[in-house]
Formats: sequence, C-alpha cells, structure tokens
Amino acid sequence: MIDKIKEYIDKVAAFQAQSLEEVEAFRIEYLGKKGHLNQFFAEFKNVPNDQKKDFGQAINTLKTVSQEKVAELKETLEGKQEEEGVYGDLTRPAEPLQIGSRHPISIVKNEIINIFSNIGFNVSEGPEIEDDWHNFTALNLPEYHPARDMQDTFFIQTDPDILLRTHTSSVQVRYMENNEPPIRTISPGRVFRNEAISARSHCIFHQVEGLYIDKDVSFADLKQTLLYFTKQMFGKSKIRLRPSYFPFTEPSAEVDIYWGLETETDYRITKGTGWLEIMGCGMVDPNVLKNCGIDPSEYSGFAFGMGIERIAMLLYQIGDIRMFYENDVRFLEQFKSSI
Ligand code: PHE
Repeated sequence: MIDKIKEYIDKVAAFQAQSLEEVEAFRIEYLGKKGHLNQFFAEFKNVPNDQKKDFGQAINTLKTVSQEKVAELKETLEGKQEEEGVYGDLTRPAEPLQIGSRHPISIVKNEIINIFSNIGFNVSEGPEIEDDWHNFTALNLPEYHPARDMQDTFFIQTDPDILLRTHTSSVQVRYMENNEPPIRTISPGRVFRNEAISARSHCIFHQVEGLYIDKDVSFADLKQTLLYFTKQMFGKSKIRLRPSYFPFTEPSAEVDIYWGLETETDYRITKGTGWLEIMGCGMVDPNVLKNCGIDPSEYSGFAFGMGIERIAMLLYQIGDIRMFYENDVRFLEQFKSSI
C-alpha cells in the first residue's frame, strides 16, 4: 500500500499541464471527494498498527505535494493567460495612434514662416483689437483719408478709436515703434473686415505681412525676396509686379505669379491669363517710418502682405473660403498627412 502511495507521489511530481482545465481534473483526481487521497484516508483504519505511522506520513506527503502542484501550475497558467488576454502579444508593433490633422491655414502659415525664417525674418504678433493709430493713422491713413474705405472696418460701438484690425500692418507699426533697424519681421495673424461672406471672401481671414528695414534697402531687394518666396512656396519662378496703390507704401505694387495654363482649373483660376495675383507690396512710405520713430533719411525698407486663405485655396484647390471655418472633419481630415 505504501508503495502505491509513493508511486502516486512520483506521478504528482512528474505531472505537467497545458491548461487550467487539466489542472482542475488533476485536483479532482487527487484531492477531490472521491480522489486518491480520500481513498487512502479511508484505508487508514485497515492498516496494521505498526505501519500506521509510515502510512500516515506517506499520505500527508502525497497531500502536500498534490496541493503544491495544483497551486504552482495554476499560478503559471493564470499568469500566461493574463499575458495573452490582457496584454496580447507583447512583441507585436503598437497600435497605430489616431492622429489629428493640422488646419490647412496653420499648415500654410507655418510654411510661410519657415521660408522667411530661412532668410533671417523673425515672427512678430500683436493684438486683434487695435486702436486707430496702429491700424490707420500711423500707416499714413489720417482721419477722413478716402483710402480708409478700402477696408471696411468693424468698430467697437462705444469707442470709435477701437476697432478689429483690418490687416496685420498694425503689428509692423508696433514693431517699428519698439525696435531699432535693421528690422526683418513677418507678422502672421487673424484680421477682420466688414465684408459680405461669399465663396471668395469672408469677414474673418488670415494674413502674413513682412517688413524689412535697413540702410540702403531698395526695390530690387524687394523683388528678389519675393522671387525667392514664390520659388520656395509654389515652385514657380516667374513673377511680375503691377503698379498699384497703398497709402503706406510708395511705390506700391501687386505681385502676380505665372501659374501656367496646363489644366482646366488653371484656366478658371487665372481667368485664362495664366497669371495669379498673390500679394501687395511696396517701399515703406517715409511718412510711416517717421510716424514710427525711424529716420527716413537714414533708413528705407519694404513691406508686403498676403492672405493665407487665398494661398491655401490655390495650393489645395479649395473652391470655397467658407470651408476653412466650418470645422467639418471630412474636410479637415484630408490634411492628415501634411506637415
Ligand atoms: N496691408 C495690405 C492689405 O491688407 C497689404 C500690404 C502690406 C500691402 C504691405 C503693401 C505692403 O491689403
């Protein structure tokens, strides 16, 4: 009988299981109500007295090794199950993250900033709620100047001196007031004009304006800077400057780039000419320099300004400016892979 128990003890020691079900079957076979152990215990009373001690010890050993075996196998198998179930295969690549997308206006703005920072321009910002001086008067647009009508303005009702800036030229005024030349700065930002909303224009849009002031800055410098920009931004190397008028620059010009006439869309957006207007520019009017505390006999400079929406519409062939402000995810998601 004792030999039989010892046989079982060896069996228990050798037992291995692949699943928790097998462990449970093992537990029932040895430690269950009708298991081997209880059967041996039942035999106990029939064992001759002189063998009782050894017999008892043997059953107890079988009991502890069986219990230990069950506990040990359970622990390893449960651990394994948890790894597979909860953590999955830890060697697999991580789940791709749900990434958001940058707004096309931000993408284009960042690209413009990059291009100009490569040639030494810094970025300046200013308030969206402005006073008359920074938005108009300092820029050679005194009260009752007819050119104020070029940009329909939102005024703060209780104070005609306070308004929503109509361009970021106001930031340039602030920058000139607070910094000594040489000045090389671009001013991106949101601007406001009291205009009817349509597919081509909106009452809120974004601009980037640039300002360069130093000794001996000439119109040729302006042209080269703009040519560099259009090459970098659009990959186009043909531009033309058409005479124009802005109160704060003299002479002033509109910049067109040669877009080409390769596709139907090219015909439509260039009205069949191949040329596209992208910004305004000019040499900073000496009066403006004076208003901002810079001596025009010592310094000269150029300025330019463009609408970010217009450029984004060109680059991404977006037909309606209102798309930028609707926050429709189906529109925004299309810019996911962009920088
Ligand atoms: N401020 C002008 C506008 O908003 C753009 C511009 C800037 C033109 C600088 C010339 C020089 O339309």
